[in-house]
Amino acid sequence: SRVILSGIQPTGIPHLGNYLGALSNWVKLQKSAQPEDKLLFSIVGWHALTLPQDPAALLAARNDMLAVLLAIGIDPNRSILFHQDHNPHHTELSWILSCIAPMGKLRRMTTWKSRLAAARNSGSEDEVDESMLNAGLFMYPVLQAADVLVYKATHVPVGDDQQQHIELTRDLADIFNRTYKGTSPLFPLPTYVNTPSKRILSLKDPTSKMSKSSPDVQSRILLTDTASQIQSKIRAAVTDSIQGITYDPEGRPGTSNLLTILAACTDSDVIQVAKAYESQGHGTLKRDVAEAVEEFLKKPRAQFDRIRLETTYLDEVARRGATRAIEHSKVTMMEVKTRLGLASRV
Ligand code: TYM
Repeated sequence: SRVILSGIQPTGIPHLGNYLGALSNWVKLQKSAQPEDKLLFSIVGWHALTLPQDPAALLAARNDMLAVLLAIGIDPNRSILFHQDHNPHHTELSWILSCIAPMGKLRRMTTWKSRLAAARNSGSEDEVDESMLNAGLFMYPVLQAADVLVYKATHVPVGDDQQQHIELTRDLADIFNRTYKGTSPLFPLPTYVNTPSKRILSLKDPTSKMSKSSPDVQSRILLTDTASQIQSKIRAAVTDSIQGITYDPEGRPGTSNLLTILAACTDSDVIQVAKAYESQGHGTLKRDVAEAVEEFLKKPRAQFDRIRLETTYLDEVARRGATRAIEHSKVTMMEVKTRLGLASRV
């Protein structure tokens, strides 16, 4: 049987990249899972703290994210849906893993390298680069590994940008297993599970991914965008001036991104979709993409509007999720501590 686990940061309403690249896959996995498979989906509040957060806004975002996950179809009776920060075992295991995590491996994380590069661009002297960043950003992937390993997860559905973190998780599991042998390896090595639409790109700069942190709000479509917001964002999407439509992610990233979005929203194959638009113009393509996105988001948006106001229900879901999550991680932590020589009899 499988243990499927994933997480998302509570940094505002998810965008189409989160939805098509990760969240829709969570729902699909929930539908196709065997009865004996375990599913855990978490809202990772501690990871959000690596960037400055306004406390009131974070509280609201954690709540909204829970409502979003329920709105898109995560069933709290089937899946364990919880806030990471409700289970202290994550941080406990994170510390333990940090004591076997090689600094060199963490330095090679592209997420860290891009933070460093950004600091370098804004800073003046080389030595100040690292000191401008907090240690949480550096340790981020270790906490993520703990999120996965504390439940002995075997499958982690995430977008493209998280693949390296899952590889690190495997490395840390393997180092732990070899360092603290016992009678059998403690942690399974988790598998990275990707969606067909691995990476949704920015509508304004199709050389980078659609992201929550981009200052240009026109670059992403949010789950809560109205039909007219969707239309105007798609209409303004950067494409190219080549005649006709072809799927060519290297040569025509903007056009190909629209095809990826259209295929994902209509649950069809991108090559087939591209063929159907071969002799069409960008105007037609954009019109149809906007329509497909609106059709795709309509139901979850309505559900979200309803669920986000049901605060008693949301609190109840969170409380039950935390209790069930802790039941599982408690067992792992006992085993971990026994191997480390930290188990006590009290
Ligand atoms: P986060 O919150 O940045 O993103 C949530 C999920 O959305 C995917 N994603 C995308 N997929 C396709 N195209 C895009 N433009 C795009 N942008 C984001 C991400 O790959 C992710 O799957 N570190 C994680 C959260 C995390 C986690 C975990 C995930 C913490 N602990 C344990 C899995 C297991 C993150 O920042 O995701």
